[in-house]
Amino acid sequence: MGVDRTESRIRQMFAAISARYDLLNHLLSGGIDILWRKKTARLLGAPRARMLDVCTGTADLAIEFLRTHGGTFHVVGADFCRPMLEIGQRKLRHVAAAWQYLLVEADAQRLPFPDDSFDLVTVAFGLRNVTRHDQGLREMIRVTRPGGLIGVLDFSLPRVPIVRSLYLFYFRRILPLIGQTIARNREGAYEYLPASVLEFFEPEEMLQLFAQHGLVNCRAISFTLGIATLYVGQKAAPAEIAPGKRPADLVSVGGVGG
Ligand SMILES: C[S@@+](CC[C@H](N)C(=O)[O-])C[C@H]1O[C@@H](n2cnc3c(N)ncnc32)[C@H](O)[C@@H]1O
Repeated sequence: MGVDRTESRIRQMFAAISARYDLLNHLLSGGIDILWRKKTARLLGAPRARMLDVCTGTADLAIEFLRTHGGTFHVVGADFCRPMLEIGQRKLRHVAAAWQYLLVEADAQRLPFPDDSFDLVTVAFGLRNVTRHDQGLREMIRVTRPGGLIGVLDFSLPRVPIVRSLYLFYFRRILPLIGQTIARNREGAYEYLPASVLEFFEPEEMLQLFAQHGLVNCRAISFTLGIATLYVGQKAAPAEIAPGKRPADLVSVGGVGG
Protein backbone atom coordinates (compact mmCIF):
# COMPACT_ATOMS: atom_id res chain seq x y z
CA MET A 1 0.00 0.00 0.00
CA GLY A 2 1.27 3.49 -0.84
CA VAL A 3 1.96 6.32 1.58
CA ASP A 4 -1.17 8.18 2.78
CA ARG A 5 -0.97 11.57 1.05
CA THR A 6 -4.57 12.69 1.47
CA GLU A 7 -4.88 16.44 1.83
CA SER A 8 -6.24 16.26 5.40
CA ARG A 9 -3.42 13.99 6.58
CA ILE A 10 -0.72 16.15 5.00
CA ARG A 11 -2.15 19.40 6.34
CA GLN A 12 -2.53 17.96 9.86
CA MET A 13 0.97 16.50 9.80
CA PHE A 14 2.65 19.80 8.90
CA ALA A 15 0.48 21.67 11.42
CA ALA A 16 1.66 19.23 14.12
CA ILE A 17 5.38 19.72 13.39
CA SER A 18 5.31 23.37 12.27
CA ALA A 19 6.98 24.73 15.45
CA ARG A 20 9.97 22.39 15.05
CA TYR A 21 10.00 22.18 11.25
CA ASP A 22 12.86 24.62 10.58
CA LEU A 23 15.03 23.32 13.41
CA LEU A 24 14.68 19.72 12.23
CA ASN A 25 15.28 20.59 8.59
CA HIS A 26 18.63 22.11 9.45
CA LEU A 27 19.56 19.50 12.05
CA LEU A 28 18.68 16.43 9.97
CA SER A 29 20.42 17.75 6.86
CA GLY A 30 23.44 19.12 8.74
CA GLY A 31 22.47 22.56 7.40
CA ILE A 32 22.88 21.54 3.73
CA ASP A 33 19.24 22.34 2.99
CA ILE A 34 20.12 26.02 3.45
CA LEU A 35 22.79 25.75 0.75
CA TRP A 36 20.39 23.94 -1.62
CA ARG A 37 17.88 26.79 -1.34
CA LYS A 38 20.63 29.41 -1.79
CA LYS A 39 21.88 27.62 -4.90
CA THR A 40 18.34 27.39 -6.25
CA ALA A 41 17.84 31.12 -5.73
CA ARG A 42 21.11 31.89 -7.54
CA LEU A 43 20.35 29.55 -10.46
CA LEU A 44 16.74 30.58 -11.04
CA GLY A 45 16.54 34.23 -10.11
CA ALA A 46 16.07 36.98 -12.63
CA PRO A 47 15.86 40.68 -11.93
CA ARG A 48 12.37 42.15 -11.59
CA ALA A 49 10.80 38.71 -11.39
CA ARG A 50 7.33 38.05 -10.08
CA MET A 51 7.71 34.74 -8.34
CA LEU A 52 5.27 32.23 -6.87
CA ASP A 53 6.57 29.69 -4.36
CA VAL A 54 4.08 26.83 -4.04
CA CYS A 55 4.00 24.75 -0.81
CA THR A 56 6.05 27.58 0.66
CA GLY A 57 5.68 26.30 4.24
CA THR A 58 7.73 28.51 6.57
CA ALA A 59 8.88 30.51 3.51
CA ASP A 60 12.58 29.54 3.52
CA LEU A 61 12.88 29.42 -0.28
CA ALA A 62 10.99 32.71 -0.70
CA ILE A 63 13.37 34.26 1.85
CA GLU A 64 16.44 33.03 -0.04
CA PHE A 65 15.15 34.59 -3.26
CA LEU A 66 14.46 37.89 -1.51
CA ARG A 67 17.93 37.86 0.10
CA THR A 68 19.66 36.97 -3.17
CA HIS A 69 17.81 39.33 -5.48
CA GLY A 70 16.91 42.15 -3.13
CA GLY A 71 14.51 44.97 -3.81
CA THR A 72 13.63 44.01 -7.38
CA PHE A 73 11.92 40.78 -6.43
CA HIS A 74 8.29 40.16 -5.53
CA VAL A 75 7.32 36.80 -4.04
CA VAL A 76 3.95 35.23 -3.43
CA GLY A 77 4.07 32.15 -1.20
CA ALA A 78 1.16 29.70 -1.20
CA ASP A 79 0.49 26.84 1.19
CA PHE A 80 -2.59 25.14 2.63
CA CYS A 81 -1.23 24.78 6.17
CA ARG A 82 -1.91 27.95 8.14
CA PRO A 83 0.48 27.27 11.09
CA MET A 84 3.40 26.89 8.61
CA LEU A 85 2.43 30.16 6.90
CA GLU A 86 2.19 32.00 10.23
CA ILE A 87 5.82 31.11 11.00
CA GLY A 88 6.81 32.15 7.49
CA GLN A 89 5.04 35.49 7.91
CA ARG A 90 6.96 36.24 11.12
CA LYS A 91 10.29 35.40 9.45
CA LEU A 92 9.58 37.43 6.30
CA ARG A 93 8.99 40.59 8.34
CA HIS A 94 12.68 40.56 9.28
CA VAL A 95 14.07 40.15 5.77
CA ALA A 96 11.97 42.17 3.36
CA ALA A 97 9.68 45.17 3.05
CA ALA A 98 5.97 44.39 3.29
CA TRP A 99 5.32 45.18 -0.40
CA GLN A 100 7.84 42.52 -1.51
CA TYR A 101 5.92 39.46 -0.35
CA LEU A 102 2.47 38.04 0.16
CA LEU A 103 1.52 34.73 1.75
CA VAL A 104 -1.70 33.08 0.61
CA GLU A 105 -3.52 30.08 2.07
CA ALA A 106 -4.21 27.89 -0.96
CA ASP A 107 -4.16 24.32 -2.23
CA ALA A 108 -1.44 23.76 -4.83
CA GLN A 109 -3.93 21.73 -6.89
CA ARG A 110 -6.29 24.73 -7.26
CA LEU A 111 -4.16 27.86 -7.27
CA PRO A 112 -6.20 31.07 -6.93
CA PHE A 113 -4.24 32.97 -9.61
CA PRO A 114 -5.04 33.74 -13.25
CA ASP A 115 -3.17 32.00 -16.09
CA ASP A 116 0.30 33.33 -17.02
CA SER A 117 0.68 35.46 -13.84
CA PHE A 118 4.29 34.76 -12.78
CA ASP A 119 7.78 34.85 -14.33
CA LEU A 120 8.97 32.06 -12.08
CA VAL A 121 7.10 29.36 -10.15
CA THR A 122 8.99 27.22 -7.64
CA VAL A 123 8.33 24.43 -5.18
CA ALA A 124 10.83 23.06 -2.65
CA PHE A 125 10.26 19.73 -0.94
CA GLY A 126 6.58 20.25 -1.65
CA LEU A 127 5.40 18.60 -4.88
CA ARG A 128 6.18 15.20 -3.32
CA ASN A 129 3.57 15.93 -0.64
CA VAL A 130 0.84 17.14 -2.98
CA THR A 131 -1.84 14.44 -3.22
CA ARG A 132 -1.96 14.54 -7.02
CA HIS A 133 1.59 15.46 -8.08
CA ASP A 134 0.47 15.76 -11.68
CA GLN A 135 -2.28 18.26 -10.91
CA GLY A 136 0.13 20.27 -8.76
CA LEU A 137 2.60 20.55 -11.64
CA ARG A 138 -0.21 21.39 -14.09
CA GLU A 139 -1.31 24.29 -11.88
CA MET A 140 2.26 25.57 -11.52
CA ILE A 141 2.59 25.63 -15.30
CA ARG A 142 -0.81 27.24 -15.84
CA VAL A 143 0.08 30.28 -13.70
CA THR A 144 3.56 30.69 -15.26
CA ARG A 145 3.81 33.13 -18.16
CA PRO A 146 4.96 31.75 -21.55
CA GLY A 147 8.76 31.77 -21.47
CA GLY A 148 8.75 31.72 -17.66
CA LEU A 149 10.55 29.15 -15.51
CA ILE A 150 9.37 26.29 -13.30
CA GLY A 151 11.73 25.05 -10.58
CA VAL A 152 11.14 21.93 -8.50
CA LEU A 153 13.61 21.14 -5.71
CA ASP A 154 13.22 17.85 -3.89
CA PHE A 155 15.00 14.92 -2.36
CA SER A 156 16.37 12.19 -4.61
CA LEU A 157 18.59 9.20 -3.97
CA PRO A 158 22.37 9.07 -4.49
CA ARG A 159 23.47 7.09 -7.57
CA VAL A 160 26.74 5.66 -6.25
CA PRO A 161 25.79 2.29 -4.63
CA ILE A 162 27.85 2.59 -1.42
CA VAL A 163 26.74 6.18 -0.83
CA ARG A 164 23.16 5.16 -1.57
CA SER A 165 23.27 2.32 0.99
CA LEU A 166 24.75 4.51 3.71
CA TYR A 167 22.29 7.27 2.97
CA LEU A 168 19.32 4.87 3.00
CA PHE A 169 20.41 3.51 6.37
CA TYR A 170 20.52 7.03 7.80
CA PHE A 171 17.31 8.06 6.08
CA ARG A 172 15.24 5.02 7.05
CA ARG A 173 16.62 4.22 10.53
CA ILE A 174 18.28 7.27 12.13
CA LEU A 175 16.34 10.21 10.74
CA PRO A 176 12.88 8.98 11.90
CA LEU A 177 14.24 8.39 15.41
CA ILE A 178 15.67 11.90 15.72
CA GLY A 179 12.70 13.54 14.00
CA GLN A 180 10.01 11.81 16.02
CA THR A 181 11.90 12.48 19.29
CA ILE A 182 12.33 16.20 18.71
CA ALA A 183 9.01 16.90 17.01
CA ARG A 184 6.70 14.46 18.76
CA ASN A 185 3.63 13.95 16.59
CA ARG A 186 0.97 11.28 16.16
CA GLU A 187 1.11 11.59 12.37
CA GLY A 188 4.50 9.86 12.04
CA ALA A 189 5.86 12.82 10.04
CA TYR A 190 9.47 11.63 10.12
CA GLU A 191 8.55 8.10 9.07
CA TYR A 192 6.46 9.59 6.28
CA LEU A 193 9.47 11.60 5.00
CA PRO A 194 11.69 8.69 3.83
CA ALA A 195 8.67 6.68 2.68
CA SER A 196 7.44 9.56 0.50
CA VAL A 197 10.91 10.12 -1.00
CA LEU A 198 11.22 6.42 -1.90
CA GLU A 199 7.87 6.61 -3.70
CA PHE A 200 8.65 9.90 -5.50
CA PHE A 201 9.93 10.29 -9.06
CA GLU A 202 13.47 9.37 -10.07
CA PRO A 203 15.20 12.24 -11.95
CA GLU A 204 14.50 10.67 -15.37
CA GLU A 205 10.83 10.22 -14.50
CA MET A 206 10.52 13.81 -13.37
CA LEU A 207 12.09 15.04 -16.62
CA GLN A 208 9.66 12.85 -18.52
CA LEU A 209 6.76 14.37 -16.61
CA PHE A 210 8.06 17.86 -17.41
CA ALA A 211 8.21 16.90 -21.10
CA GLN A 212 4.71 15.41 -21.03
CA HIS A 213 3.46 18.73 -19.70
CA GLY A 214 5.06 20.55 -22.62
CA LEU A 215 7.94 22.19 -20.73
CA VAL A 216 11.05 22.94 -22.80
CA ASN A 217 14.77 23.31 -22.00
CA CYS A 218 14.36 20.89 -19.10
CA ARG A 219 17.25 19.79 -16.97
CA ALA A 220 18.00 18.15 -13.66
CA ILE A 221 20.80 19.55 -11.50
CA SER A 222 21.91 17.22 -8.78
CA PHE A 223 23.05 18.60 -5.40
CA THR A 224 25.29 16.87 -2.82
CA LEU A 225 25.87 13.44 -4.41
CA GLY A 226 22.27 13.31 -5.63
CA ILE A 227 20.58 13.68 -2.22
CA ALA A 228 18.57 16.53 -3.70
CA THR A 229 17.81 17.51 -7.27
CA LEU A 230 16.66 20.77 -8.79
CA TYR A 231 14.49 20.31 -11.88
CA VAL A 232 14.16 23.27 -14.18
CA GLY A 233 11.85 23.68 -17.14
CA GLN A 234 10.53 26.53 -19.22
CA LYS A 235 6.95 27.15 -20.30
CA ALA A 236 7.11 27.29 -24.06
CA ALA A 237 6.45 30.65 -25.64
CA PRO A 238 3.98 30.24 -28.57
CA ALA A 239 6.75 30.83 -31.17
CA GLU A 240 8.78 27.93 -29.78
CA ILE A 241 6.11 25.40 -30.68
CA ALA A 242 6.79 24.86 -34.36
CA PRO A 243 3.81 23.75 -36.50
CA GLY A 244 3.50 19.97 -36.62
CA LYS A 245 5.69 19.45 -33.58
CA ARG A 246 4.44 18.44 -30.19
CA PRO A 247 6.08 20.46 -27.38
CA ALA A 248 7.63 17.26 -25.98
CA ASP A 249 9.72 16.87 -29.17
CA LEU A 250 11.42 20.16 -28.42
CA VAL A 251 12.61 19.17 -24.98
CA SER A 252 16.17 18.07 -24.50
CA VAL A 253 15.95 15.49 -21.75
CA GLY A 254 19.59 15.41 -20.80
CA GLY A 255 21.24 13.32 -18.10
CA VAL A 256 21.44 14.43 -14.52
CA GLY A 257 23.95 17.25 -14.47
CA GLY A 258 25.65 19.10 -11.65
C1 LIG B 1 8.23 19.78 3.43
S1 LIG B 1 7.33 21.27 3.50
C2 LIG B 1 8.28 22.32 2.44
C3 LIG B 1 8.23 23.76 2.88
C4 LIG B 1 9.19 24.70 2.17
N1 LIG B 1 8.93 24.76 0.75
C5 LIG B 1 10.63 24.35 2.44
O1 LIG B 1 11.43 24.38 1.50
O2 LIG B 1 10.99 24.10 3.57
C6 LIG B 1 5.93 20.88 2.49
C7 LIG B 1 4.85 21.93 2.52
O3 LIG B 1 3.92 21.62 1.47
C8 LIG B 1 2.63 21.98 1.91
N2 LIG B 1 1.64 21.26 1.09
C9 LIG B 1 1.53 19.94 0.88
N3 LIG B 1 0.51 19.67 0.05
C10 LIG B 1 -0.02 20.87 -0.29
C11 LIG B 1 -1.09 21.26 -1.15
N4 LIG B 1 -1.83 20.35 -1.80
N5 LIG B 1 -1.35 22.56 -1.28
C12 LIG B 1 -0.61 23.49 -0.61
N6 LIG B 1 0.39 23.19 0.22
C13 LIG B 1 0.70 21.89 0.36
C14 LIG B 1 2.62 21.60 3.38
O4 LIG B 1 1.60 22.25 4.09
C15 LIG B 1 4.03 22.01 3.81
O5 LIG B 1 4.06 23.31 4.31
